[in-house]
Amino acid sequence: MMRKAEAVREHAYAPYSRFKVGACIRTASGNLYSGCNVENAAYPEGICAEASAIAAMIAAGEQEIAAIAICGGPADEAAKRCLPCGGCRQKLSEFAPPGGDLTIFPAPGDKQGVTLSALLPEAFGPDDLAGSHD
Ligand code: THU
Repeated sequence: MMRKAEAVREHAYAPYSRFKVGACIRTASGNLYSGCNVENAAYPEGICAEASAIAAMIAAGEQEIAAIAICGGPADEAAKRCLPCGGCRQKLSEFAPPGGDLTIFPAPGDKQGVTLSALLPEAFGPDDLAGSHD
């Protein structure tokens, strides 16, 4: 996974921040989906690497993330530790296993990882919307 995250990071489009990020999701079925950050001259329109990987997973017809490897750093340097931003923690939470958690590997060489629930405790989720559409 981390090898794929490092490889896709090379394709990141980050001319404004010069900070390239790569991510690789492993789904419950064992398939891998990669993504990189895609910036835009209209700065808020940029997309994070995690969101890009999630979009690839959804487009392929899968919805359950078991684990994700992420790495990032200045464009002219090797990939280093990169924890997901707050918005990406929320996006990942949407596709955590039912009643479960997912593991985040935030740095090359980190075999243990951290859980999403440690980074986003008491997350707002689909269940919080129950009944609100009546
Ligand atoms: N970035 C990501 O792709 N993922 C993160 O979790 C942290 C930040 C990107 C967004 C922007 O293109 C660049 O890194 C600098 O913030």
